[in-house]
Amino acid sequence: MKNILSNFVKEHRVFMAPMTGLTDYPFRKTLSSFTSIPSYSEMVASREIIYSNDKVKKKLYRNNNSSFFIIQILGNEPYLMSEAAKYCEQLGADIIDINMGCPSKKVTGKLSGSALMRNLNEANDIIKSVVNSVKLPVTLKMRLGWDENNLNAPEISKAAEENGVKLITIHGRTRCQFYKDYANWKEVRKVKNNVLLPIIVNGDIYDNNSARRALEESSADGVMIGRAAIGRPWILQKILSNINNSIVYRKVSTLDKYNFISQHYEEILSHYGFELGVRVARKHLIKYFQYQKELPTKLVNLTIRSESPKFVKNSLKSMYLN
Ligand SMILES: Cc1cc2nc3c(=O)[nH]c(=O)nc-3n(C[C@H](O)[C@H](O)[C@H](O)COP(=O)(O)O)c2cc1C
Repeated sequence: MKNILSNFVKEHRVFMAPMTGLTDYPFRKTLSSFTSIPSYSEMVASREIIYSNDKVKKKLYRNNNSSFFIIQILGNEPYLMSEAAKYCEQLGADIIDINMGCPSKKVTGKLSGSALMRNLNEANDIIKSVVNSVKLPVTLKMRLGWDENNLNAPEISKAAEENGVKLITIHGRTRCQFYKDYANWKEVRKVKNNVLLPIIVNGDIYDNNSARRALEESSADGVMIGRAAIGRPWILQKILSNINNSIVYRKVSTLDKYNFISQHYEEILSHYGFELGVRVARKHLIKYFQYQKELPTKLVNLTIRSESPKFVKNSLKSMYLN
């Protein structure tokens, strides 16, 4: 039977990674106004989804600009995970992604995220119950294994495929590496060789060369990019054009950057309200400015610290449009 996500991966090839606190609704909405790169929601705990409060509901807003709404769920109890998946299906999700890669102690301490890679029975039970509870395709994001002595991603992937998962993303590090060392894309090839599913390679991809090397070394079908796209999301489209050998790539202009940043800023304020919005926007502004070394330092610092949206908007205009 044809895997319904094979074409999806072939068509898109570049994916924006889920990133808690960063790839929220305002970011995803802005991104989808400018490109068709699919992005994932931040991870949302299954328990939170079921006992959903307003804060959680905001994480699950469907962005109507985007043709794909991918919600990533996190948890360690099959029943709660399946109920959460059903809830997401009702909200209009197109894909449910299971988080089996989060290395944080807070998450693994509750035996969720990458801790599931140490417990195959539990991982399989969760996968089965999520797959069986929804009509949507279910995908998985994980690491190479718990540590270098337990590189069991190929084995877990095989079982996941047999249990109905349609796509797997592998971050080429172990849980115990957290973000240390370099992602090992060659190790991802062992997963690719063990399954027929489309595989997305992730970790340390930040430009055309690294994307090409990651694809070559892993033989994966697509790349997922996280940290490198925060502050310069336009690299996603650039990398896509490059790996597709497309000749139609239009270089991103300062006006394009201004349009992206100012829309993102507006979306943040309207989603979170003024008080929280100003704080959320700050971390993105810092990243945007970090890649624009030519901007005047004094104005950059004032803009980052500013509590006044009017001042920020005027500064953006003066920095990018003058
Ligand atoms: C701040 C931050 C938040 C993240 N949140 C999530 C998350 O919610 N779900 C997830 O699967 N991975 C999460 N990740 C991991 C990324 O999706 C990605 O796997 C990792 O950053 C490696 O890719 P990169 O080198 O392109 O950043 C997060 C990473 C960072 C740095």
